[in-house]
Amino acid sequence: MAWCLRSCKTACGQKFLDQKENAVQLTERINRIQISPTAAVIAEAEKLKAKGVDIADFGPGEPDFPTPEHIKKAAVRAIEQNFTKYTATGGIMPLREAICAWHQRELKSHYEPKECVVNVGGKHSIFNVVSVLVQQGDEVIVPAPYWVSYPDIVKYTGATPVVVETRAEDGFAVRAADVAKVITPKTKLLILDSPSNPTGGVTPPEECAKLLELCKKHNIWLMGDECYSHFTYGNNKPFSVASLPNSKNHVIIIGSMSKTFAMTGWRLGYTLAPAQLVTATVKLQSQSTSNPTSIAQYAALAAMTGPMDSVPAMLAEYARRRRRIVDGLNAIPGIECGEPGGAFYVFPNISARLGTGPNALAKDCSELATLLLEKAHVALVPGAAFGAPGYLRLSYATSIERIEEGLRRIEKFFSRAAAA
Ligand SMILES: Cc1ncc(COP(=O)(O)O)c(C=O)c1O
Repeated sequence: MAWCLRSCKTACGQKFLDQKENAVQLTERINRIQISPTAAVIAEAEKLKAKGVDIADFGPGEPDFPTPEHIKKAAVRAIEQNFTKYTATGGIMPLREAICAWHQRELKSHYEPKECVVNVGGKHSIFNVVSVLVQQGDEVIVPAPYWVSYPDIVKYTGATPVVVETRAEDGFAVRAADVAKVITPKTKLLILDSPSNPTGGVTPPEECAKLLELCKKHNIWLMGDECYSHFTYGNNKPFSVASLPNSKNHVIIIGSMSKTFAMTGWRLGYTLAPAQLVTATVKLQSQSTSNPTSIAQYAALAAMTGPMDSVPAMLAEYARRRRRIVDGLNAIPGIECGEPGGAFYVFPNISARLGTGPNALAKDCSELATLLLEKAHVALVPGAAFGAPGYLRLSYATSIERIEEGLRRIEKFFSRAAAA
């Protein structure tokens, strides 16, 4: 919007203030971070879809399955029973109890409700925890490829994200020996995302135990992001660092209803941590979001206490899609795709087709993602968004038919561009 540059009065007397275009003075804090690149890709794809373009969409990191019936019904019941008012800031007690019981049953932890707080999605849980634990001068270790929000949440607090690389040939597992190399006296927190977004990498339990020992030795918090805990393949099983002996004083668990129960829009997550830390995040929450939506809390209560059969059903379908997409991508010359151990993403290496050489399709992965969207109508996220240039992230939380269609388009684009 162009603002009036002179002070003037309209006939009705309304005063326009002197304002230059783009003259809003934002804080240095907000200028440190960027809009989530995955949200940006989704927005670009949506624009094309609105124009009627058929997009093979590998962008969104959300289940394409509906929220299970019993969870939806619990929300309807909550409305009918007028559970539509403020609740306790940290969530209703029955839900906090149910989360602790669910986590104990599913992931072998031992938490009490005073060590549990319900948040407005897992992202909010992470934002709260990082906000109360770190500040200017502190360092947070973030294994790469990383989920897009970790570095920016850390930067927003004034602390510094310190990236430690994981390797494709190692299934993108986080290795304690690599983490040890970047620990300094300023390190306060290590973020462990397993199974990982964007790679699907799973860090094995024995390596998690080594990471915990390292954290204990250096007095560092280990934050386990368990958003994808129940989507693991082959020999990988759901695992929590909170199940390791004597872990409680060093571990923070981030959980979410979003993926496990196909509830991304409900905005419901939780934190499990020592009571003092939980109390601090409740204080922050009391001055920001207040309680998560009451209705969503009753829905989450049904998720935590009800049948879990939707989870293996989703997992079986993801496993089928994973097989198809991994095989399909590896059949395209110039694409190398490992087999992810969990989550619902593949993270192929396409560096052989980047640069300025005769085989290059684009100068970098961001340009390639843009070309794939514009020319082949395939939406995906460039690896650079996750600190991994040379890669692309594809979510296979989409039907097998759309996966087939997307693979056809990628293959055509790769072969045509190579011949051009
Ligand atoms: C690794 C990881 N952690 C946390 C979240 C946050 O999920 P939500 O805020 O929907 O619970 C996501 C969402 O994509 C994620 O991929």
